[in-house]
Amino acid sequence: MPSAPDDRIRLIDPDAVPAHIAVIMDGNGRWARQRNLPRIAGHQAGIQSVREILEASAELGVGALTLYAFSTENWKRPPSEVEALMELLREYLGREIDNLDRNDIRFGTLGDSSALSPVIQSELKHAVERTAANSGLRFNVALNYSGRDDLRRAVNTILSKAKDDPRLLEGISEEYISRHLYTADLADPDLLIRTSGEWRVSNFLLWQIAYSEIWVTDTLWPDFRRPHLYEAIIAYQKRERRYGGLTPALAR
Ligand code: FPP
Repeated sequence: MPSAPDDRIRLIDPDAVPAHIAVIMDGNGRWARQRNLPRIAGHQAGIQSVREILEASAELGVGALTLYAFSTENWKRPPSEVEALMELLREYLGREIDNLDRNDIRFGTLGDSSALSPVIQSELKHAVERTAANSGLRFNVALNYSGRDDLRRAVNTILSKAKDDPRLLEGISEEYISRHLYTADLADPDLLIRTSGEWRVSNFLLWQIAYSEIWVTDTLWPDFRRPHLYEAIIAYQKRERRYGGLTPALAR
């Protein structure tokens, strides 16, 4: 069920909405356990949150939304849970692609999708191609992703480029590293949200979150809906982003 309209939207300054929001969706298993349901029921319920947060982000004018759906470590889960998660993703793409396209949303993935099944790879490719020309919200799903692997991969790419261009060995810039990450064409997240009350970054976007504002909520992902997103953005808009410097008031 979509959540009821929430008045708190009026507290959001439309000119200062985060350009990029990244989310560690956590707590699906606990949500299911609290209801004596199998873990996969929590993931299923989490899909409704994905839909609602995506829709709300597009309405608010967020530029990019990046969801951590499957980490390189998630392969350690029981095969039945991994399969069920992949099936949910496949169903989601099959069902939602028209809707994403109609709403001018551009779909993308972060992570090594070559390890996913051929069926999922082809669904992902189709979704990326179908929405490639869209200019609205960038919707990224991190699949078989980890921040360290992102960096490892970037270093390897740069090392192989250095074979043809030894000047690279003299030193590279931060910007050059950024250009070799999965997020090469995305701004760094302004806001990182983690649900279910865990204070960890869990190997997500390690390089890219250097200056992200972090919002942790006890709400479990399947319960995280529009009002919770509004709450996170309102809190974000109250933060003073200093990027290691001083605000004028503090410099006095
Ligand atoms: C964390 O909860 C959640 C995940 C590892 C998977 C999230 C995936 C989805 C919501 C479905 C696919 C997504 C898209 C974008 C279509 P957990 O299982 O670690 O929960 P727990 O910590 O309570 O056990």
